[in-house]
Amino acid sequence: MDKSLCAELIRSRLDSEASGSRTQTAFCLAIRRLILDGELPPGSPLPPTRMLTNELGLSRSTLVRAYEQLRLEGYLQSRGGSATLVSEALSFTAPSNAPRGRPWRHGRPLSRRGAEIAQHATSSPIQSGAFVPGVPDVRLFPFATWRRLLSKYVCFEHRQLARYGHGGYGPLKAVLAEYLRVSRMMSCSPRQILILNGSHQAIDLCARMLCDEKDRVWMEDPGYWGASNVLRANGLHIEPIPADDQGMSLPADPESPPRMIFVSPSSQYPTGVVMSLNRRIKLLELAEAHESWVIEDDYDNEIRYHPYTIGSLFSQARSQRVIYLGTFSKTMFPGLRLAYLVVPEDLAESFAIGNAELYREGRLIEQAALAEFIDAGYLSAHLRRMRNIYQERRNVLRRAIESRLGDLVSTTGGLAGLHLPYFFNQPFDDVALSEEMLEAGIVLRPLSMYYADAGHCRSGMVLGFAAVDAKTIESASDQLCTVVERRRQRDQEPLPARPGQQ
Ligand SMILES: Cc1ncc(COP(=O)(O)O)c(C=O)c1O
Repeated sequence: MDKSLCAELIRSRLDSEASGSRTQTAFCLAIRRLILDGELPPGSPLPPTRMLTNELGLSRSTLVRAYEQLRLEGYLQSRGGSATLVSEALSFTAPSNAPRGRPWRHGRPLSRRGAEIAQHATSSPIQSGAFVPGVPDVRLFPFATWRRLLSKYVCFEHRQLARYGHGGYGPLKAVLAEYLRVSRMMSCSPRQILILNGSHQAIDLCARMLCDEKDRVWMEDPGYWGASNVLRANGLHIEPIPADDQGMSLPADPESPPRMIFVSPSSQYPTGVVMSLNRRIKLLELAEAHESWVIEDDYDNEIRYHPYTIGSLFSQARSQRVIYLGTFSKTMFPGLRLAYLVVPEDLAESFAIGNAELYREGRLIEQAALAEFIDAGYLSAHLRRMRNIYQERRNVLRRAIESRLGDLVSTTGGLAGLHLPYFFNQPFDDVALSEEMLEAGIVLRPLSMYYADAGHCRSGMVLGFAAVDAKTIESASDQLCTVVERRRQRDQEPLPARPGQQ
């Protein structure tokens, strides 16, 4: 395994299991776990202490002592002077192919639902690097302003913010209603808005409040696997509906329409296609006629690279069948875990009750800081700045990929958001490609893995460009193109003649 990837693994393990604690004990614990879980197999080289000092913020002497301790315990060994490896003498059967930290790795039986969640798990411990999709560059977030606003509300005068909430912080909902009016052409009252801890919780609440077990849900295919997993965990039956260059292609005359339809009409995930007006009208008519609920996932449309506002589906719906889902994960930072739903008037109170009963509400301090962050114009200033930066990174990626891979690839995205999807126009094993890239320390999401139905699955690459600077994008793209070209050449080479063949 590449050393920087290994450093990233160690960092994420420290963050998840030692709550970010940076001590010799926490570091040793993280390394032991990674080894015993099979994520650092025998013989794996560990990053040099100098590299880890920068990556983890631990002093070099602490790291040297930690390596020494792990060597003494038999987990590590030295080779050739300063290189440190996972001990080659270790022999045990690590659970294979299991994603990190799943409970069933430790041999405990899970419920059917739990096992299914683990089986479909897609969240990655690696959340930074050249092509990680959907992750903003958190290094450029105005932390000083954010800290000032947070500390303003962490005080005795605002002690009511330390209590449970109900329905979200009022001033944030008022600011959001205005923000949505301007940015998404939506007309809604603050009462219709519910603040939640991220989109997944919002989707979970919709499923629990509006669907019963075994109800059917239409999902775009390819689509957002995170949403499918949450819906499936609620016992819902997912039916993949192909998405093409106009968005979700609805069946002409569905025999039995679903209870719920999950779409991303402003920027289909991951293809980036904007749903055509005809499809939008058809979708709204279908939902109205059959009393289906439409969940509109509008995850990244504030980060767009053209001057036009693409109206939300919610804003086009005369009926009351659309629930709008927005998130601050792309515009602020993902660890904030704040998202919101805009629901029809008559659902607002039941949803607020459901939210309070299922999850209990809080995070009012963050919500108060966010309200002021938006109201005082900090969010729009941050977005203006980031749009320019991301646009440059997108252009660099585009140039690098298209100048070298030419007709082999095509894209449907790039108008908005933090990633570019590329389709391979010829048969190409995108999973093998991503495995090879991972060996080189670069995370690459194969497009084929976003499809649920193998019948219309296409291969390609989903390339995030936002999390790192343009130079890193450029060099990673060069590496990627070299690997693609090499694999393609190998695929095209005639097979060696078998003995006896002419
Ligand atoms: C399609 C899509 N919707 C929503 C989200 C946001 O999820 P959350 O608000 O839970 O961070 C993501 C995150 O990557 C996404 O890709």
